[in-house]
Amino acid sequence: MRFILKKFPPSIAALMLQCAAVVLMLPLAEFAGVYGSPLLFAILCGLLAATFSFFAGLASWWLLIQLMFAPAMVLTLAAGLPPSLFLGAFLILLLVYWSAFHTQVPLYLSSNKVRHALEHLLPAAKPGSGFIFMDLGSGLGGVLTHLAGIHPDGLYVGVEAAPLPFLWSWLRIKLGGLHNCSVHWGDLWGCDLSQYDIVFAYLSPIPMERLWRKARAEMRPGTLFISSTFAVPDQSPHETVQVDDLHRSTLLIWHM
Ligand SMILES: C[S@@+](CC[C@H](N)C(=O)[O-])C[C@H]1O[C@@H](n2cnc3c(N)ncnc32)[C@H](O)[C@@H]1O
Repeated sequence: MRFILKKFPPSIAALMLQCAAVVLMLPLAEFAGVYGSPLLFAILCGLLAATFSFFAGLASWWLLIQLMFAPAMVLTLAAGLPPSLFLGAFLILLLVYWSAFHTQVPLYLSSNKVRHALEHLLPAAKPGSGFIFMDLGSGLGGVLTHLAGIHPDGLYVGVEAAPLPFLWSWLRIKLGGLHNCSVHWGDLWGCDLSQYDIVFAYLSPIPMERLWRKARAEMRPGTLFISSTFAVPDQSPHETVQVDDLHRSTLLIWHM
């Protein structure tokens, strides 16, 4: 079972296990007379789904989600909230997180201290010479707009796949009048990294091996690849910068 489920993103595997738990619980519920209590039925489904997820090797936070999912659904339905509320919440989450269920890279933001640490990694300003900085998965555009304001001699480009963060960052750049900054709606895997002097990524452990192969294949010698927090398997960085923020972020730096 583990082998089959490994072919799916964890969210889809979790959904399949949740459905399996409900299907298996149905005859048992009839036998045990649990139908009269939807909450009890949901708790039993949650317990079974969490057990399946444990044996399927899902990460520990999925066990908690699996345990709570059906009971939370029953309790929320009992609250009698209007369905449009759920549709609205679903649409907002969809626009913010978009393909995160598949890419396993959700939206979370670099801290102010990380943005300040990045300032010191940009090339020193020289008349007539600029640089191009790329933020792969630029989120709300905070890294780009901060650096563009502090270090106006560079060009700052971002690519973001999720519609709402993209729109937010696009407006932020336009309203801030930052002419050395732009953001594109698209997939980072379609970007040609040979155009950039500094490539920054704050993603998740999942894409790092593939991203490293892409960076090695495309980035020019002498350019910088910086990953915030997430290591590249089997590739020691040339430099690290420890940031004293809430998450104890580390900037991992490779001179290509
Ligand atoms: C952890 S956030 C980092 C945001 C920003 N770079 C920062 O440091 O504050 C990662 C972002 O990457 C985006 N993302 C994930 N996969 C992507 C892809 N394949 N192409 C473009 N953006 C992607 C997500 O939507 C998310 O907004």
